[in-house]
Amino acid sequence: MIVVDQAVAGYTPEVDILRGMSVRADAGEIVTLLGPNGCGKSTLLKTIAGYLTPRAGRVLIEGQDVSAMPVHRKIRQAGLGFVPQTENVFTALTIRENLQVGGHHLEAHGARRRMDELCVHYPVLARKLDAPAASMSGGERQILALARALMPRPRLLLLDEPSAGLSPKMLQEVFEAVRLIRAQEGVCILMVEQNAMEALRISDRAYVLSMGTVALTGEAAALMTDPQVRELYLGGRAA
Ligand SMILES: Nc1ncnc2c1ncn2[C@@H]1O[C@H](COP(=O)(O)OP(=O)(O)OP(=O)(O)O)[C@@H](O)[C@H]1O
Ligand SMILES: [Mg+2]
Repeated sequence: MIVVDQAVAGYTPEVDILRGMSVRADAGEIVTLLGPNGCGKSTLLKTIAGYLTPRAGRVLIEGQDVSAMPVHRKIRQAGLGFVPQTENVFTALTIRENLQVGGHHLEAHGARRRMDELCVHYPVLARKLDAPAASMSGGERQILALARALMPRPRLLLLDEPSAGLSPKMLQEVFEAVRLIRAQEGVCILMVEQNAMEALRISDRAYVLSMGTVALTGEAAALMTDPQVRELYLGGRAA
């Protein structure tokens, strides 16, 4: 379970990007964060992951206050996985090496077993294990970024726009991969998305953020039909 309680955070001391932000994602849930460009979605994920420390408020993982815990400890000890918005694969490394980086702190045998398992889940990786990640398409890279974050078997996963820039077909494949991660491994997923409708379809709940705070929250199914949400964030069209 991830709880963000009244978090205030930013990149410089003068400017607060998160201005008393409170969100939560419970065990086994998929929760989506929507909102306009620049409203603080990535900043929220970076604050949860530990790249930024909140100057007020708290971040809790499984009930423990981890507000000041650095990223590497959150990954190794608190069971967190993070797929950032950009530069989320090492293009100069092969697919195998990218997965090895994700599991670098695991013992060798366990890491190999986990890699084999992920290659069964994601055949696109198995087909090209020793090819450079630079040779992958955008959608394949998103799958690799997901798989790399999954190497240590995280219990909580933060995804920053996993479907950004993908064709409708690849977009469906990436959302299906996200849905399967929850179904097969019970991972709690907090996901930022711009493809609001598709994201809400696989989510339990969602938050609509605006200027560093929560503007609206509810069950995903209810938000999909909420006229205000449709008008503001989904173009106001019928599903
Ligand atoms: N490294 C940084 N240093 C300073 N300011 C930053 C930094 N990263 C982001 N910001 C600022 O913080 C604000 C929120 O940015 P953030 O990346 O969290 O938005 P976002 O909601 O993820 O937007 P997008 O939908 O475009 O990804 C913006 O005003 C942005 O300019
Ligand atoms: Mg962002």
